[in-house]
Amino acid sequence: MCGIVGYVGEKQALQVVVEGLRRLEYRGYDSAGVAVVADGVLDTRKKAGKLVNLETLLGADPLPQSTIGIGHTRWATHGGPTDANAHPHVSEDGKVAVIHNGIIENFAELRAELSAAGVTLSSETDTEVVAHLLAAVLPTVRMDLAEAMRTVCRRLSGAFTLVAVHSDVPDVVVGARRNSPLVVGRGQGENFLASDVAAFIAHTRSAIELGQDQVVELRRDSVVVTDFEGAPADVTEYEVTWDASAAEKGGYETFMAKEIAEQPKAVSDTLLGRIGPTGRLQLDEMRLSENDLREIDKVVVIACGTAYHAGLVAKYALEHWTRVPCEVELASEFRYRDPVVGPRTLILAISQSGETMDTIMALRYAREQGSKVLAICNTQGSTIPRESDAVLYTHAGPEVAVASTKAFLTQLVACYLVALYVAQVRGNKFGDEIAAVVRELKDMPQKVDLVLDTTEEMKALAEELKDAPSVLFIGRHVGFPVALEGALKLKELAYMHAEGFAAGELKHGPIALLEEGVPVICIVPSPAGRSVLHEKIVSNIQEVRARGARTIVIAEEGDESVVPYADHLVRIPACPTLLQPLVSTVPLQVFAAAMAAAKGHDVDQPRNLAKSVTVE
Ligand code: M6R
Repeated sequence: MCGIVGYVGEKQALQVVVEGLRRLEYRGYDSAGVAVVADGVLDTRKKAGKLVNLETLLGADPLPQSTIGIGHTRWATHGGPTDANAHPHVSEDGKVAVIHNGIIENFAELRAELSAAGVTLSSETDTEVVAHLLAAVLPTVRMDLAEAMRTVCRRLSGAFTLVAVHSDVPDVVVGARRNSPLVVGRGQGENFLASDVAAFIAHTRSAIELGQDQVVELRRDSVVVTDFEGAPADVTEYEVTWDASAAEKGGYETFMAKEIAEQPKAVSDTLLGRIGPTGRLQLDEMRLSENDLREIDKVVVIACGTAYHAGLVAKYALEHWTRVPCEVELASEFRYRDPVVGPRTLILAISQSGETMDTIMALRYAREQGSKVLAICNTQGSTIPRESDAVLYTHAGPEVAVASTKAFLTQLVACYLVALYVAQVRGNKFGDEIAAVVRELKDMPQKVDLVLDTTEEMKALAEELKDAPSVLFIGRHVGFPVALEGALKLKELAYMHAEGFAAGELKHGPIALLEEGVPVICIVPSPAGRSVLHEKIVSNIQEVRARGARTIVIAEEGDESVVPYADHLVRIPACPTLLQPLVSTVPLQVFAAAMAAAKGHDVDQPRNLAKSVTVE
């Protein structure tokens, strides 16, 4: 939530900053703003709405040339999406500009204190207090902006990434981090600060992770990191492994279309190097000992949104393969209900961004109870893997569209790998049984590729159904989380009523929603192996059709039993039921994106949302 960019170097700062904001716009698009310092004068421009509005303003009212600047793209928390609430916020003397991601929880008290001291606040945000506090502290610390930032940060509570510039110190950008993401990009004669490496990857791949409660002082040729007390801090440097083109649309109309198409590769990359020649899994990289895995008596998955749906699939796989009980909980609920976890509980924290605040708070709570946390994450160096005992990275590459697609499929793969690995370590399954599943898993990238052939068909279906008032999704077993995921995609992209149900639950209430022509998307498991499950859902399809619903049936190639009950039949490649979400989800992603496009919505940046949710 909120994208932040800072630059100091030799280039035109405004260009670097606006380009960075373009790559971070997925984090929020309620407003955008920039500040530069030129000839000892601070100047800002900011505008409500998407970045393009700011660019128009900059065209009409240009900023002076400068080699130092900061920029912000906002997801509103405190104060509506107006020009006045857009960042940067500036001190009364016009010398300090501040941008912020997160929530300053004690802002009301600080606002009251500033008002009492005669300061006029000109926005409704929590951020503005920081600009005024910095201005007040600076003269007491010999105009040392980093020291002023440390002093102010010690007074703040909540989550914040802050970046500031001051017109009297025109060669310094200062950043601070508590709970929200901030990375340094180290260049030659230039340095960058950003919420995500995507903002500076076109300039440098050399990055530094900032830790909790750290302040960084950036000049053209130096990066100095301290804690909030001013003591030098240890930092981790790393090379970003993907290049700028990975975060470009590459000829696709939307990032989401590109990311859907990238799924076969993302699945294959996530399997890469993790399966030995005999089919044994090699997950030593996780940093969790075999002994730890033998000791656990329960797994609890914590995650949000799409990652939560991956967790629901993980439960079926884990319990089936390992016989270890598994609970799945929304991270935002887990933390506040006094859950029963302890040293023998393995927590699986699933997150694409690694910065989701609900998940961070849940994992911190679990660690306080003595549980070990294994993160499944797509973002190297982000908070969730940093604060976990172990991590298994998904290798989806950067996911820019707000709606998660390739991250979901790779989270599923990582969950299967973890479940099979636990079974291998604990001896719940014979080696050859594990090897057989692993062989099937290795075939999945090709099957995901095949299912992309349904793209045109799903687009045509979306066009036909675009005026439907609501769409329902039903599934059983792992088809149930797929139904939930299909409905979530449709809600977030097409802004329409959509709900996913466990097919067996329909008759306990939701079937009353059905009337003539309501589209019901039915996810049918493989008829092979689990024939009872298959028979049950075929009955459920008949039940909804008997009540006038229009059935859109997603079933395996060769499954003829569903043909009489399908108003529209979407074919997916045959695969074991547990692995089926890897293919059955894909047509639903395409359907939701096409529905959004048919309704004229922005597919990559749906309203009210942001890619990574860094506030609770
Ligand atoms: O970065 P995370 O995986 O922790 O994000 C969790 C959810 O916010 C995310 O999956 C969200 O539900 C997606 N927009 C859904 O498409």
